[in-house]
Amino acid sequence: MVRSFLKRLLSKPFRMGAAPAPEAEAPLAPPSVVLPAPDADGYIAVAPEGDVVVGRARQSAVGPNTVAVFRTEEGLFAVDNACLHEDGPLGEGRVAGNIVTCPYHDWRYDVRDGSCLSRKGRKLATYEVRERDGFVWVGPRKTGGTDARGGEHDDGLAQRR
Ligand code: FES
Repeated sequence: MVRSFLKRLLSKPFRMGAAPAPEAEAPLAPPSVVLPAPDADGYIAVAPEGDVVVGRARQSAVGPNTVAVFRTEEGLFAVDNACLHEDGPLGEGRVAGNIVTCPYHDWRYDVRDGSCLSRKGRKLATYEVRERDGFVWVGPRKTGGTDARGGEHDDGLAQRR
């Protein structure tokens, strides 16, 4: 958490003259109830249904991965939590409609299919997700993602040069 905060703080030190970026939401608290064991299909309960709300993400460990789960007006979606730039925690990003903006340097993603809007051709892995018995469950990987990392920042510096 401290590392995440420091990286976010150090990533945007020179925004003078640019409109201030809205702050990302603080991560949500852990689920308030004991989650059920994984089901027979390999789905893992990540939160009570009521804890996954429009406009906020929920980060959860799913096997070896950390997944960010989003509820939008179009449904539930789950993608890898690691940004394709420098592994920023997308589950702590700003959410607007189906788009999440990374809290580190503002790369944007469509949570419906994992596509990176800041670097065309790159994609986050996506996961099956469903609601059942009052919980949100994340299942197997649905689509693969891009392994490549890195690239220029989208932090407003380019516009001032
Ligand atoms: S780590 Fe996500 S935009 Fe840099």
